Amino acid sequence: MLNVGNAVLNEKYLLSLQKKHNMSTKSHLIAPSVLAADFAKLYDDIIMVNNSEADWFHIDIMDGVFVPNISFGFPVMQAIAKHATKPLDVHLMIVDPDRYLQVCKDSGAEIITVHYEACTHLHRTLAAIKELGCKAGVALNPHTPVALLKDVLADLDLVCLMSVNPGFGGQKFIANTYAKVQELRAMAKNVNDGLLIEIDGGVTTANAAQLLKAGADVLVAGSFVFNAAAPLDTIKSLKDIDINIENI
Ligand code: DX5
Ligand code: ZN
Repeated sequence: MLNVGNAVLNEKYLLSLQKKHNMSTKSHLIAPSVLAADFAKLYDDIIMVNNSEADWFHIDIMDGVFVPNISFGFPVMQAIAKHATKPLDVHLMIVDPDRYLQVCKDSGAEIITVHYEACTHLHRTLAAIKELGCKAGVALNPHTPVALLKDVLADLDLVCLMSVNPGFGGQKFIANTYAKVQELRAMAKNVNDGLLIEIDGGVTTANAAQLLKAGADVLVAGSFVFNAAAPLDTIKSLKDIDINIENI
């Protein structure tokens, strides 16, 4: 059965966000990952993203348990939220995320993504995220098959396909991701046409067009953006990709 309701909702949501934040209406979204920013001059990097063609801020929260690294927590996210003029897309790489959904929302999250591998009662967790008034996403590690999402697909606003093992920026893109995007897009076609597919890890202009062509909607980019000599131009180069004219 076609879940037109959710598709329309997502489309409306995107349009309202675009209007609210003066975002462009190009078809795919760019979400620079703040993990790769210079934390000693975080304010400058936030303003750079505000002034860029990026659509969202991607915020990576880690607990040192689910992933072998600790990034930053909610007080830092609140500081980012104070200056960000674009939605915060929060990627929770933590065990038992239910304990932190409220504080995550209160810290400025518009989209909250939890890991499939970290949730015992995923359906309940997604309902709790929506209850808070946030958009609900699920992230899949590279080894987790997209088929496992079948029974929650209609409830999701976003699926984040990890194209590296989560925990660190600057890793090599895993090419199997292309096939996962295609498979997920096909799965979503009849149950959740408005589903946003986000790719996280190792995204550059070398793989972005192929990802978009496979069916991705949101490209997260950390080191590719923040390590660039001209981050504004780098964001624009990702945003400007047009799969209709791209030679892939
Ligand atoms: C990794 C994080 C990513 C990371 C991406 O665990 O979820 O968002 O910041 O960084 P790059 O783009 O450098 O791979
Ligand atoms: Zn992330």
